[in-house]
Amino acid sequence: MTAGLHAAAPIGIFDSGVGGLSVLRALQAQLPHERFLYYADTAHCPYGERDVATIRARAEAISAELIAAGAKLIVVACNTATIAAIAHLRARFELPFVGMEPGVKPAVMASRSGHVGVLATTRSLAGERFQALVDAHARGVTVHTRACSGWVERVEAGDLHSPACMAMLRGDVQPLIEARCDVLVLGCTHFPFLAPALRDLVGPDIHLLDTGPAVARQAARVLGDAAALNPASGPGPTLWRCSGSDHDFQQQRRLLGFAAT
Ligand code: DGL
Repeated sequence: MTAGLHAAAPIGIFDSGVGGLSVLRALQAQLPHERFLYYADTAHCPYGERDVATIRARAEAISAELIAAGAKLIVVACNTATIAAIAHLRARFELPFVGMEPGVKPAVMASRSGHVGVLATTRSLAGERFQALVDAHARGVTVHTRACSGWVERVEAGDLHSPACMAMLRGDVQPLIEARCDVLVLGCTHFPFLAPALRDLVGPDIHLLDTGPAVARQAARVLGDAAALNPASGPGPTLWRCSGSDHDFQQQRRLLGFAAT
């Protein structure tokens, strides 16, 4: 239900940790006059190896908190939580949710080699929902997957380019390059922060696909259709919450280039 949304209210956004900041950046660019309330579930990060029931319970509790704080729309800035919980959230709450899933469709459309690689968490790749995406969109293109263990932890620690980080990335990406993938889907919102390191590894000709901007456009469409875009003329503030240490979360944001507000 999208009627009656309060235009001046903030957009809620959540992730297991700092990954959703890659989506927040796209949202701030697309919707500069909006206010944002970002929730990082740092006490329960990473989600990628957790069971569906746990992720669903966390997504529900965080959404309830964002709604209590006045959110007019919630962006689930996490592929893992979207896949595990978005149907449940939509059934449970009345406000609109915008979620995200690994960009299989745009990757297939962009591929010339007929091979695309999807980099995501174990949980995202395990479910029927991901298989349904592949079945719906692969159209003769071979979709290779990699459950990237350890990547989220590196981003949470702000380690985006150390030799150990590069070795970890190489181990997962090399088989995809050998399989002739010419598009790599960044199917977890933490991974865009590793894009410069990945670019160094794969060279200029492989397309790294980040779905953050498409999610931001979708959020803008939903709010526009509901006549709920913020009419303010200045930039909107971003407020921060987390389930772990506020101090650590502030440090993490700083490391990833987010001002310490
Ligand atoms: N950033 C998340 C995603 O997009 C979840 C990462 C995790 O906590 O494992 O999948």
